[in-house]
Amino acid sequence: MRFRSRRQILPMFVLVCLIIQLVQLLNRTKAGPKTHKILVWHWPFGNSFNLDGDFCKDKFGVPNCIMTDNQSRFSEADVVIFHNRELIQGQQRLPVNLKRPEKQRWVWFSMESPEKHGDLMPFNGYFNWTMTYHQDADIYSPYGFMVPKESEAHEPLESFIPKDKTDLACWVVSSLSQHHERTAIYEKLKTVIPIKVYGEAVNKPLDDQTLLPTISRCSFYLAFETSVFREYITNQLWLNAYMSGAVPVVFGPIRDDYEAVAQPDSFIHVNDFSSVEELGEFLKTLAADRERYASYFNWRRKYTVEIKHWVELACQFCPKISSMPPHRVYEDLDAWQ
Ligand SMILES: *[C@@H]1O[C@H](CO)[C@@H](O)[C@H](O)[C@H]1NC(C)=O
Ligand SMILES: *[C@@H]1O[C@H](CO)[C@@H](O)[C@H](O)[C@H]1NC(C)=O
Ligand SMILES: *[C@@H]1O[C@H](CO)[C@@H](O)[C@H](O)[C@H]1NC(C)=O
Repeated sequence: MRFRSRRQILPMFVLVCLIIQLVQLLNRTKAGPKTHKILVWHWPFGNSFNLDGDFCKDKFGVPNCIMTDNQSRFSEADVVIFHNRELIQGQQRLPVNLKRPEKQRWVWFSMESPEKHGDLMPFNGYFNWTMTYHQDADIYSPYGFMVPKESEAHEPLESFIPKDKTDLACWVVSSLSQHHERTAIYEKLKTVIPIKVYGEAVNKPLDDQTLLPTISRCSFYLAFETSVFREYITNQLWLNAYMSGAVPVVFGPIRDDYEAVAQPDSFIHVNDFSSVEELGEFLKTLAADRERYASYFNWRRKYTVEIKHWVELACQFCPKISSMPPHRVYEDLDAWQ
């Protein structure tokens, strides 16, 4: 090729560069999004999953996400998840002796309340992300979600209420320790209304098969948390109450915290009453007023409850990894929880 003047060389050069870039861009689009690798350093409470195959895709339909629990793959991992309990108890250690890839993120993971978090001081300055039930966690992993239905259901409210409500109130509880605030509320409430109690605390455990059918016979379920902490709302509400179809009477964080994740008319809060006696009287009146009781099922026309295991939430987080803020270090985990 001959150039008539040297002035034509520069535009020509720019054009060639642009074409190369375009070809590369198309090539990259064809190659698809980056595959991310998540390493589960150890399993919470020893409850492991078989991660064989393309786990996230096969189980939860999330492509381009490799989840492994093989510690030998540390250097390839984009994200490493550490569950708090085993760290604070010394059964597991952070791999501080290994060379940590520059872009690798370490995740501090816990579903427990701060009461069980132990001494977090030694773990400050290591973690880039948090994974908890807090809504402002980097990886939000609550015990349950309320999800809008695709279209509003128009069935009569009665169809949402389980048949055979034979008991007024019930509660499944593992410990009736006197130092739990909830125990005092229960002791007082049972002098006003009958309460059926199940669980290890009273040597009447319910297994997976009997749990929900038993609770569904109760008009109300006492979804009382062991300890009261900001946003700490557990399976007491999401599984035992919502999944069984008993109206939850909640005790835990303030009403605002519940309303941030659940419909305001889907539960009764202990704090809504000036005394436990008043709460008991209200429950009696409500159970006798079929129409008013049914109004606590209104939300079920528009919403359903979903419970997702944390591994599913970790898989679903994969596509978001690239768009997370580039740099973050938790220097004070205590202040954060
Ligand atoms: C296209 O991408 C493949 C890898 O995905 C690479 O080997 C190849 O060199 C790329 N081609 C161009 C023209 O960039
Ligand atoms: C763990 O990963 C290493 C390195 O990729 C590999 O050599 C080894 O076979 C893996 N172990 C298991 C149990 O998959
Ligand atoms: C992750 O945290 C470590 C501190 O342990 C820090 O050195 C590193 O730069 C952080 N990485 C990112 C991507 O934020």
